[in-house]
Amino acid sequence: MAVAYNKRTHRNGALRSEHVGQDVLLTGWVNTYRDHGGMVFIDLRDADGVTQLKFNPQTDPQAHETARALRNEDVIAVSGTVAPRGENVNPKLPTGEIEVNIHEVDLLAKADTPPFEIQDHVEASEELRLKHRYLDLRRPRMQKIFQLRHRISKAIRDYFDQNGFIEIETPFMTKSTPEGARDYLVPSRVQQGSFYALPQSPQIFKQLLMIAGFDRYAQIVRCFRDEDLRADRQPEFTQLDMEMSFVQAEDVMDTVEGCVVKIFKDGIGVDVKRPFLRMTEEEAMNRFGIDRPDTRFGLELQDITDLADQTEFKVFKDAIAAGGMVKCIVVPGGESLTRKITDGLAEEIKGIGAGGLPVTKVTAKDGGVELATGVAKFLQPVQGPLCEKLGAGPGDAIFFAAGSFAEVCKYLHFTRSRLAEIMELIPEGLWNLLWVVDFPLMAWDEEEGRFFSTHHPFTAPRDEDLPLLDSDPGKVRAKAYDLVLNGMEMAGGSIRIHRQDVQHTVFEKLGISEEEAQAKFEHLLEALRYGAPPHGGIAFGLDRWVMSLADVPSIRDVIAYPKTQRAVCPLTEAPAPVVDEQLRELGLDLRPEIKAKLERKQATGGSNPVHRAHDE
Ligand code: AMO
Repeated sequence: MAVAYNKRTHRNGALRSEHVGQDVLLTGWVNTYRDHGGMVFIDLRDADGVTQLKFNPQTDPQAHETARALRNEDVIAVSGTVAPRGENVNPKLPTGEIEVNIHEVDLLAKADTPPFEIQDHVEASEELRLKHRYLDLRRPRMQKIFQLRHRISKAIRDYFDQNGFIEIETPFMTKSTPEGARDYLVPSRVQQGSFYALPQSPQIFKQLLMIAGFDRYAQIVRCFRDEDLRADRQPEFTQLDMEMSFVQAEDVMDTVEGCVVKIFKDGIGVDVKRPFLRMTEEEAMNRFGIDRPDTRFGLELQDITDLADQTEFKVFKDAIAAGGMVKCIVVPGGESLTRKITDGLAEEIKGIGAGGLPVTKVTAKDGGVELATGVAKFLQPVQGPLCEKLGAGPGDAIFFAAGSFAEVCKYLHFTRSRLAEIMELIPEGLWNLLWVVDFPLMAWDEEEGRFFSTHHPFTAPRDEDLPLLDSDPGKVRAKAYDLVLNGMEMAGGSIRIHRQDVQHTVFEKLGISEEEAQAKFEHLLEALRYGAPPHGGIAFGLDRWVMSLADVPSIRDVIAYPKTQRAVCPLTEAPAPVVDEQLRELGLDLRPEIKAKLERKQATGGSNPVHRAHDE
């Protein structure tokens, strides 16, 4: 008689000693199989947990016979009676007090040997795991991550619903949106030669919703950006996108804080304190060299340009002569850093454009201090005042960077982050939430010789800085705010420009011509003519929230079907070449050299030549 698998009584994490004596029906995957002197033990797994099944050849010979042929990942249904484990209790397992004596077992699907073991400490490469993502996702850790993801999404939806926001869907097939990355394009068959762009964010649509009078909108939405991928970036990712009318920056930040408190509580049961700390962008850059500082540890940047100028060190002198600066980081106890480590760091920093990483160590001498090793000899004339200014004492190391403000920030942020990792300076269990505010509205791009917007071109300038728009645009601060958690940018938003005249001036300063503005954003510019309420909003990177709360290092761990660093999906092998007929219908043709390359690759290897070489 078949076991009625649709009538299961419990999930596999549920049974406890109070269930002893009950008849139960369970379903799931064979997680482990052990044969102990005739008695067969199987751990049965589902998303909820594992339960130990026991097959006794004396009492249930038929079930035992079937069990002997079972192997890992077979799908089965069983019925049996819950029994105590006696002295074999496993305190590490929630169901460790019991086992189930099986009377009947049904093999529902036989499994081939999986390409890697389904367990949390998996040895397989990420490439292989992503190719068989459905197996990778069976791992208990992954099941937990996606349950957490669900709780976070639900917390967000519930919060915005309770606060009067409504969810409205915005189009995926649209026109280029202004977040500054490359667009993914979709060719039109009906309008040959024209393309839709997948949205980098619903930015313009949500502003139009405010102009349409919806007052409060929130949407959990997919966004698409063709940009260089990193551990916290995917080409398609999910935002919680929201917008509110008749508000100031404070109101948006206040609303967000309430949501973040709920995310932490419902997600991982942690209470975070409000209000969150605030720091201006200027202070963040000066102290940490980055606009999303990790404030869980010290190693702050200190400016020593004045003292550096009194030395004969060419690296310092040249930077200062070119209008640059010299800054440094004091590392308490840094004397423990070996030559191998500091040389390694110097090599790494060359990878991001620095000439090297000057370093020295502080030692005690005659009741005072002396700089020894590294660049000490260049700093001799100022070593006393330098250590005094920096508060550096014996046992400390000092790392330096010289160059433009931007270069110094970049190099020392890198050094600071790497040192924190190497010296294990980041305490566990800290959730440092920080608002970074007062971003410059626009920044000068040396290469292109023009200003570009630091957020997006619809961000409102601060009222008191409006007069500077003409005289000194680089000094204008924006009504923009980013939310940073432990050094990761979790959300970014702003109050928007709701007046046509201001929008036109900002476009002009950004070097966006009237024609370009019309061509790109005519729909928004026109809408602004018909009465736009003052409005503002923000977008959270949902994947990053899950990543942080799940404490995993890669965004790929929190997306069910992620792309690799080359924007490829190993499971489906997307993107893939298409047949000529499809291109013809779209009025497209491949450039001859691309066509030849594809044909060559097709001749030499497999179904999808695009993916042969992954460089993950
Ligand atoms: P922004 O571009 O700052 O703002 O994006 C908002 C948040 O989205 C997340 N994010 C990403 N997450 C994963 N992969 C990516 N490639 C990626 N890019 C961004 C970050 C970021 O803070 N329209 C504006 C929001 C607004 O002004 O309301 C916007 O999209 O966590």
